[in-house]
Amino acid sequence: MRDLLVRLYTGIRLRARPQGRRISPLATIRGDVSLGKCTYVSGYAEMRGIGSAVRIGNYCSVARGVKILSAGQVHDLDAISTFPFYLIDPALERADTMAQRRDVVIGNDVWIGVDAIVMPGVHVGDGAVIGAGAVVTRDVEPFQIVAGVPAKALRKRFSEPVCAAIAASKWWERDYRELKPLIRRIHAGGRDGEQAILETLGLLAGAAQAAAS
Ligand SMILES: CC(C)(COP(=O)(O)OP(=O)(O)OC[C@H]1O[C@@H](n2cnc3c(N)ncnc32)[C@H](O)[C@@H]1OP(=O)(O)O)[C@@H](O)C(=O)NCCC(=O)NCCS
Repeated sequence: MRDLLVRLYTGIRLRARPQGRRISPLATIRGDVSLGKCTYVSGYAEMRGIGSAVRIGNYCSVARGVKILSAGQVHDLDAISTFPFYLIDPALERADTMAQRRDVVIGNDVWIGVDAIVMPGVHVGDGAVIGAGAVVTRDVEPFQIVAGVPAKALRKRFSEPVCAAIAASKWWERDYRELKPLIRRIHAGGRDGEQAILETLGLLAGAAQAAAS
């Protein structure tokens, strides 16, 4: 019952997509966009990989109304007019007007809050958090929490050693099936203190070694 209410509220499809991705039917995803495994995209989120790509990693949470922009949504500020004349004149190349060609790259386990905007070419590191309503104009470091317009760093999610240990574990490369035996510990996270996180990472490493041998 709780699951049903959550899904009704978020508008995320009941039906799992390949590799556990879930995309709301109310989201708009166009062009060169890739989504990692288990990443979900909520209603009214928009991402258009036009002129440059949008790459989103594994286990990311994209809240309602998030907008991720690409090169095709940048008009030329240096020409006489910012109007995209290629729309009415097929002889003009769309690429001529593109100032920003860098792809948007969102790492793994990134939470993007409701109505946030990620500008073209921005890279967001693994484990980062983008606050509700933020406009992200610059790259975001791994595990950094940013918020505001323009987005500024609030703090890191964990101490540096713990951020480094989580990054080194690359847990997000594993399928949910592999994480499942430890999922309660992963989900509990820092509520039990950073020591508990390090212990869980140790157990994950042990499980990976056991599976490989
Ligand atoms: C960014 C966020 C994760 C920070 O959480 P937090 O670390 O608990 O932050 P706090 O509430 O302690 O706030 C810390 C400071 O940041 C400011 N702040 C927090 N969120 C902000 C936001 N979205 N925009 C601007 N400022 C924000 C607070 O006002 C506070 O400022 P102060 O120190 O000057 O008083 C959270 O506020 C947020 O935006 N979450 C997204 C929620 C969401 O979109 N959910 C969608 C459904 S998945």
